Amino acid sequence: QQLTVNATPSKKSQFGVDLFIETNINSGTDGGLYAELINNRAFQVPAGAPTGNNALGQGTLASWSKVGASTSLDLTLQNPLSHALPKSVAVTSSAKNEACGLTNSGYGGFSVKPQKYDLSFYARSVDGKPTTVKVKAGLYSADRSRTWTEQTLTLQLTSEWKQFKASMTPTASAPDTNNVFSIKTAAGCGSGMQLNLVSLFPPTWKGTVARADLAQALADTKPVLVRVPGGNDLEGNSISAWFNWTNAVGDVKNRPGRIGTWIGWNTEGFGLLEMMDMIEKMGAQAVLGIYAGYSLDKKAVPKDQLGPYIESALNQLHFLLDTSGKWADLRASYGRAAPYKLEHVEIGNEDWIYNAPDSWPYRYPPFRDAIAKAFPQLELIASSPYSFQGQQAIDQHDYNTPSWFIDAYDKMDSWPRNGTKIYELEYAVINSGLTNDADIYSGKSRLQHPTLIAALAEATFLLGAERNGDLCHGAAYAPIFMNEVPGLTQWTPDLISFDAGRSVKSISYYVQQAFGMHRIDNIHDVKASTPPKQAGLFHSVGSDAAGSRITVKLVNTKSSAQSASVRLSGGGGKKVSAAGAQQWQLSGSNAQASNTMGQPNTVVPKSGALPAGALQNDGSLQMTLPPYSFTIVTLPLA
Ligand code: AHR
Repeated sequence: QQLTVNATPSKKSQFGVDLFIETNINSGTDGGLYAELINNRAFQVPAGAPTGNNALGQGTLASWSKVGASTSLDLTLQNPLSHALPKSVAVTSSAKNEACGLTNSGYGGFSVKPQKYDLSFYARSVDGKPTTVKVKAGLYSADRSRTWTEQTLTLQLTSEWKQFKASMTPTASAPDTNNVFSIKTAAGCGSGMQLNLVSLFPPTWKGTVARADLAQALADTKPVLVRVPGGNDLEGNSISAWFNWTNAVGDVKNRPGRIGTWIGWNTEGFGLLEMMDMIEKMGAQAVLGIYAGYSLDKKAVPKDQLGPYIESALNQLHFLLDTSGKWADLRASYGRAAPYKLEHVEIGNEDWIYNAPDSWPYRYPPFRDAIAKAFPQLELIASSPYSFQGQQAIDQHDYNTPSWFIDAYDKMDSWPRNGTKIYELEYAVINSGLTNDADIYSGKSRLQHPTLIAALAEATFLLGAERNGDLCHGAAYAPIFMNEVPGLTQWTPDLISFDAGRSVKSISYYVQQAFGMHRIDNIHDVKASTPPKQAGLFHSVGSDAAGSRITVKLVNTKSSAQSASVRLSGGGGKKVSAAGAQQWQLSGSNAQASNTMGQPNTVVPKSGALPAGALQNDGSLQMTLPPYSFTIVTLPLA
């Protein structure tokens, strides 16, 4: 393949690699990115779906068990800690000389390392009379043979709820995550302790509430935009379970949480400000998803009842953006004085599926018009199909097979440039295509983890998006997280899998990261001697704003090595130089290979100096591209 690159850029690129963090899916926030280790910390997890519009008070003892044969754990709505967290547990014992307490099994156990763990819980006496209970709180092996760390607390309990705090630091790492957390006594429970909001945090990422390894993995992709909080979870299973931001700010004691769309319970501890803080610390900006009056039970808010939802969206934006006034004061009271930098708002989610389009024409315009009037500086992204033109921006989603993504390399080439920007804020190869499933979602070839060919197909698609970076402003793989503990996940494949202790970056992760690490500002047109789809060799070439380097990205989707010659032609008088030239490469021999918990490094990229001889004296780049590979070469221009 011979690629002749026009040395003069043809267009500016706005394309950046983005992230899409959806709360609740695959226990990706509660049980994942939210560093809270206690599962069901406020006895909110209901048995099955909650009934009625309000899940408050329907919680169970899921993930909790008793310490001591004579101990009783009784859930009670008496003397609630707060309106939001009405249920608590009464821990009593009929034996004065037996251990008494309760144990939490976490989200698939606990990772124990020699680091500080911060404990907090609320307690009162069960009968309201003063009682003193001496407890030990700590992390233990599940079989109780090891105490990893433990703190003694003397609880002087009265009728009033009191918050108790302690920190503990194990001296060694546990060999696995088969560990539990307990609060227990040596003998009896006094006249009984009533407990709620039991919380344990390990050190977090940069002072946020985010789990350190997962947040760092996200930051390492150098995202431009981060779309939050969903996805389907923004919409909720029913209108009453929509993401209402007012329940996701302030003291966690006052956050009622809600049933998630995907799996488990949303504590909303990883709430609005927590998300914004993490995104800001990543050097990115949010694409804030606004509920648009449609939920997953396929019901839409009637036209004449949209008012409160529009008002809530406006209040949410005032809360994040105002520099003074009541919303700014409220934000400051929650610890954040400065407004956030927020320029992108997405209205709704996937308003092209099921019967959402029926109500979209009456739902979308009032949200758009009200937000545009109050915040004319914001870019408003419609979650509508591409055919819905005339908007500032739209968000398309694509889940498909490798061959579909490879074929989509040029899909944007002919799309009209009429002022509507495109985002692809959900994309992923989800099915290998090997069994030609009629339904790629439920078919036999649904992927468990991204494969090499899936990642290369996504890379090919992203090359197409980048070459059309005047139109396509960003793309995000979806979903990001998957808690691999059985029962905590239901959507595969995902960008990063994890359990209580480990995390694994998929091959698709490395592809997405490569685009973040090698962002371009200008697009250069390329003439290929053989059409890319015929060659199975795809390209995108760009340069930085200063014109100081040129970046060549090449994907070989074939099972055999291919040679490529890349030459700059015309304009500028600048020459490529070998000094400082870099290469990043991902390749493997097995198209169906994946990175997994058992084999996390099956396919990982290698980077370093461009191999000697690749850059010829005449300035052309001569490459042999390995089978199934993605190669990025950065050449200084002087
Ligand atoms: O990413 C998983 C789901 O796929 C999202 O919640 C939804 O927007 C899409 O259908």
